Amino acid sequence: MIQKAIDAIKMADYLLITAGAGMGVDSGLPDFRGPEGFWRAYPAAKRLGLRFEELANPRWFVENPRLAWAFYGHRLHLYRETKPHEGFYELLEIARNKKDYFVFTSNVDGQFQKAGFNERKIEEVHGSIHFLQCSEPCSEDIWSAKDVQIIIDEEEFQAKEPLPRCPRCGMMARPNILMFGDFGWIEKRHAIQREYFESFLNRAKSLAVIEIGAGTAVPTVRMMSEFVARRFNAPLIRVNPREPEGADIELAMGAKEAIGKMYEGLYGN
Ligand SMILES: NC(=O)c1ccc[n+]([C@@H]2O[C@H](COP(=O)([O-])OP(=O)(O)OC[C@H]3O[C@@H](n4cnc5c(N)ncnc54)[C@H](O)[C@@H]3O)[C@@H](O)[C@H]2O)c1
Ligand SMILES: [Zn+2]
Repeated sequence: MIQKAIDAIKMADYLLITAGAGMGVDSGLPDFRGPEGFWRAYPAAKRLGLRFEELANPRWFVENPRLAWAFYGHRLHLYRETKPHEGFYELLEIARNKKDYFVFTSNVDGQFQKAGFNERKIEEVHGSIHFLQCSEPCSEDIWSAKDVQIIIDEEEFQAKEPLPRCPRCGMMARPNILMFGDFGWIEKRHAIQREYFESFLNRAKSLAVIEIGAGTAVPTVRMMSEFVARRFNAPLIRVNPREPEGADIELAMGAKEAIGKMYEGLYGN
């Protein structure tokens, strides 16, 4: 299977990389696979009886901002501190050796940018934790979260005031992430990224798709990989240690291992 993946990449002039939370697991980040997986990463959410789909809801920024910011503040710090694993850098080199590449991801962690992927070649379909917006929202403004530091009482799973607020109206600020039951997500930043993606798809010929660590619970990434592969009649390589089914080339491995093997096959001696 790995040889088929290497050959498919060799043959292609353009590369589409799609990624879900599994891409970050080898950097030490949790995925949120199933309620048990989520609760292992956030035991406080288990105590509160809140599943990921319930906690990742914009209502908490109004009803219980200290809880909302305990969750998102923790993730903001975690993603900020995390170093992308080697696979990110190998994948970037593979991508740069093609005519062009693009990354489509549901991850909000900014790890592709951190590893050096061109920010004009990334669509973050669920937004990014590194940007904020008004929870109202009173305007379409999106601003950087780089100066945000949240102090969290981990035991109580409560963030401490002062919490980030909208500079225009003073309401609570929230990450510019598409949450569940979210009618207030400001799409502006994502809409620009979508235009980059469409322009890539209009230019691309002889494409290969590498999908890494995308789950089935929120199948946005898997659906995009399959859609593009079908449209271009392109090979789909699916890297996933637990659920690699449904692709032309199924690699039941972790991200770092699979990318390492592809890299070695392409450039190794
Ligand atoms: N890092 C992040 O930004 C992050 C983290 C968790 C969840 N989320 C959000 O939560 C939702 C979850 O969807 P999802 O499909 O991304 O995640 P998911 O947690 O539902 O699925 C993760 C997938 O990764 C696979 N996986 C586990 N370990 C792996 C490894 N070492 N290498 C490769 N794959 C591995 C799992 O088998 C699973 O299929 C999305 O909406 C996403 O925006 C984001
Ligand atoms: Zn506002």
